[in-house]
Amino acid sequence: MSDNTLLKPIRLGSLDLPNRVIMAPLTRQRAQQPGNIPHQLNATYYAQRANAGLIISEATQICAEGQGYAWTPGVHSAEQIAGWKLTTDAVHKAGGRIFMQLWHVGRISHTLLQPNGAAPVAPSAIQAKAECYVQEADGSHHKAPTSMPRALPTEELPGIVEAYAQGTRNAMEAGFDGVEVHAANGYLLDQFLCSDSNQRTDSYGGRVENRVRLVLEVVDAAVSTVGDSGRVGIRISPMGTFNGVDDANPLETFSHLIKELNSRQLAYLHINKPDWVGGTYEGFDELLQALREQYSGQLILCGGMDANSGAEAIDSGLADVVAFGRPYIANPDLVARIQAGAEWNNINPATLYGGAEIGYTDYPTLNG
Ligand code: PHB
Repeated sequence: MSDNTLLKPIRLGSLDLPNRVIMAPLTRQRAQQPGNIPHQLNATYYAQRANAGLIISEATQICAEGQGYAWTPGVHSAEQIAGWKLTTDAVHKAGGRIFMQLWHVGRISHTLLQPNGAAPVAPSAIQAKAECYVQEADGSHHKAPTSMPRALPTEELPGIVEAYAQGTRNAMEAGFDGVEVHAANGYLLDQFLCSDSNQRTDSYGGRVENRVRLVLEVVDAAVSTVGDSGRVGIRISPMGTFNGVDDANPLETFSHLIKELNSRQLAYLHINKPDWVGGTYEGFDELLQALREQYSGQLILCGGMDANSGAEAIDSGLADVVAFGRPYIANPDLVARIQAGAEWNNINPATLYGGAEIGYTDYPTLNG
């Protein structure tokens, strides 16, 4: 039996977790079609992983316009809410806890994925140097460069905030224990945060106080909808360049965001390391250390860790809990493996996105 720090219980926001092992949000593109509806297969997959201290669901579109990849689930139709109930019931029955990650992709989308073939929305009409994943009318599917977006006029921003509030309401109705606002990885909220994608001249662009405004309005809407700030988290990816975002001064941008978040007493701040997509990010460790020191709440760190480096991140004070992405795909019994000091299965990259049971619910546990 291991005495790894990851196995110690902790209170995170309003939840008591039996361990500090978090299942990271992971896109798997296996919602039922048509309608992007979560179904029994997804419930089985999440329940297999209910050993996590907390599961954070795959990114889930809060509105039809928020979708950027074929077959990702939504939480904006009655069928989707009912479908998610299968997952939350199964996870709770298995003794687990699960937050929903609320997603709007902004400009990381394609006219083929948008209602009436419209242009995706963004802070500014600047096309991302990034790809999304589309299905054609004939059923064929493939990666595609993102479409040219249209800039959201100021008058439409309250509607975006309301879409997050509605997503939060729907997630809670579906039985989730809380929500995570996805403000990372080059999606809509990160597009507002980062100086390169946000060239607005209204009160939502330009100086840092303006670029963080939409994120904070969304966080506040989620908190007031849930009615408990300890059930709302936020995920950011400082210095990340995935999906074509770039910020001129991540220390300034994210320090200011954190200063504002400190007064909101959220469940957690979730930081994902930029190198999860490869590449080197000089100065990230120093940036992370500075942000950790500025943030007064609890921090989830995610990206490329194992049982030892995960425990070390907590022991050194850098993180309070640690999230595992790819390891949780391949190891449904990740906590038992940490307890036993056992080897971890490797993922099969070919079955990450789309498909059904294979590479999803059939990874072996220690018991076979
Ligand atoms: C993806 O689908 O590739 C994806 C989704 C959400 C993320 C990152 C990547 O935060």
